[in-house]
Amino acid sequence: PVPLIIDTDPGADDVIALLLALSARDKLDVRALTTVAGNVQLNYTSRNARMVREWANRPDVPVYAGCARPMLRAPIYAAEVHGAEGVTGVKVFEPKQPLAKGNAVQYLIDTLTAAKPQSMTIVTLGPQTNLAMALIENPGIKQGIKEIVMMGGAHFNGGNITPAAEFNVFADPHASDVVFKSGLPITVIPLDVTHKMLTSPERIDRLRKIGNQAGKIAADILDAYVEHDIKQYGLPGGPVHDATTIGYLLRPDLFKGRMANVEVDTREGLTFGATVVDYYRSTKRPENARWITEGDTQGFFDLLTAQLAKLP
Ligand code: BDR
Ligand code: CA
Repeated sequence: PVPLIIDTDPGADDVIALLLALSARDKLDVRALTTVAGNVQLNYTSRNARMVREWANRPDVPVYAGCARPMLRAPIYAAEVHGAEGVTGVKVFEPKQPLAKGNAVQYLIDTLTAAKPQSMTIVTLGPQTNLAMALIENPGIKQGIKEIVMMGGAHFNGGNITPAAEFNVFADPHASDVVFKSGLPITVIPLDVTHKMLTSPERIDRLRKIGNQAGKIAADILDAYVEHDIKQYGLPGGPVHDATTIGYLLRPDLFKGRMANVEVDTREGLTFGATVVDYYRSTKRPENARWITEGDTQGFFDLLTAQLAKLP
């Protein structure tokens, strides 16, 4: 199984992503969940990650809380999309198992400096503050990283939080700038693809019909969460952004994209937080990321349904 750390800000679609990742023990060796402020405040994203761990019955996976705010910019949240506490559609509770001791940034530094060379996959599903802070504090962490797989950014169809920017990058553009300039191998799952891989009433219904707790939670969350995006973006269904990122890890054959130079606009202004993607290679700037643009939607939802059936 692929050893990985998932950095996340649950977040409705983060919950689906985490359930999917934790269901795939044979393929993904999830070493830890690290949490960050993003969709909602850090206390909620951390509690929600612990709730998912309990739903998935995975007490073996530690949850480390990380940065409570972005590096430089003023904090922004997306409670209107995800609910005030980040998990619209389900009843929240205080999980039994506590957070792991220590900060997520320190956990990343300790783990990645000690890891076998190029062995760990880092998945980021929220603002990239924790990873950027770890890279700044100790660039030696690069030795342990095989690749970064991130949900974030937007190119062909514009942003979701501003006309130019996608939420995760907009919420901490300086952090994403550090990550894109790190020289590490990066795969990006941007809105270009997530706004095409949409729920439908049938797809949500299939999750509910699994008949277990995980399927019900996923269906309840999606029922409550997709409404906002369908209305706001005029899409025929709801995107499940972060979950498709785990789909990519499990079934890369379902996705297509290509290498490009990607830079982040860190100047406050109209395009603050935009990912500037040289998709047509009009500059000589070096390719630093694989930019995903296509995904097999039905293949993904079949995978999600089959995987969640493996959970309680
Ligand atoms: C991203 O922003 C967050 O609101 C979602 O959880 C996802 O990670 C989509 O732009
Ligand atoms: Ca997220």
